[in-house]
Amino acid sequence: MSKSARKYLIAGNWKMNLNSAEGAELAKDVVSLVGAQTDVAVCVCPTFTVLESVSKVVSGSNVQLGAQNMHFEASGAYTGEISAEMLRHLFANFVILGHSERREDFGETDAIVNKKTLAALAANLKPIVCIGETLEEREAGKVKEVIKTQLEGALVGVTAAAADALVIAYEPVWAIGTGKTATPEMAEEVHAEIRCLLAGLIGAEAAEKVRILYGGSMKPENADELLAQKNIDGGLIGGAALKASSFAALVESAQKLSK
Ligand code: PGA
Repeated sequence: MSKSARKYLIAGNWKMNLNSAEGAELAKDVVSLVGAQTDVAVCVCPTFTVLESVSKVVSGSNVQLGAQNMHFEASGAYTGEISAEMLRHLFANFVILGHSERREDFGETDAIVNKKTLAALAANLKPIVCIGETLEEREAGKVKEVIKTQLEGALVGVTAAAADALVIAYEPVWAIGTGKTATPEMAEEVHAEIRCLLAGLIGAEAAEKVRILYGGSMKPENADELLAQKNIDGGLIGGAALKASSFAALVESAQKLSK
């Protein structure tokens, strides 16, 4: 399977920004700029309280909805948590799991990310599973080791049948929100490694179907080169997703490369 068989995915991670009215405004602008094109899959991931207003705005367009986290149980005594079913009820299609901010600030482990990944897949949500090394780990030459542990830990029990739904986001922690981006070559090296590890886990044919996004200070100025890499199938975008024009420019970069 060639790269062109994988549709690019540009996903916006809005993090803890925007209230429901502001989110609806941004979503409106995103829909008007890129909601009609079908070359690239586009998704916005607002915070929980903003999902409903954004869901109404993107409905009927090519902009899909994602959440930034979820609990692995379907319901019950889990104060402050949200389940996959609740997200589906608001027409979410994607959910970001194991973002480094959740791992660092909320103690999410590979085992928790694994439970969430299995629960998302079971509920027909597409998990965007985030992995990536810290600067310390990169400098210690541990990138491959960290990626392998996180990927294998997150995907225990995931089979080839999940390949179309599964999305992996490689986000070097040192590049998130810092303005420092991995060079296209550095990113591609890790993405190729991830695909190779995926082949070992779910088979080579299924591994070719999985989209692997790059995340970490991706912006219009560096997107063309990153997205052109053989194993980079899109982006998970933080800062640049909070402005409709820069987010749309990233979608347009992917669109150009899709033709
Ligand atoms: P950034 O964030 O684009 O602001 O670096 C990416 C992310 O954390 O998903």
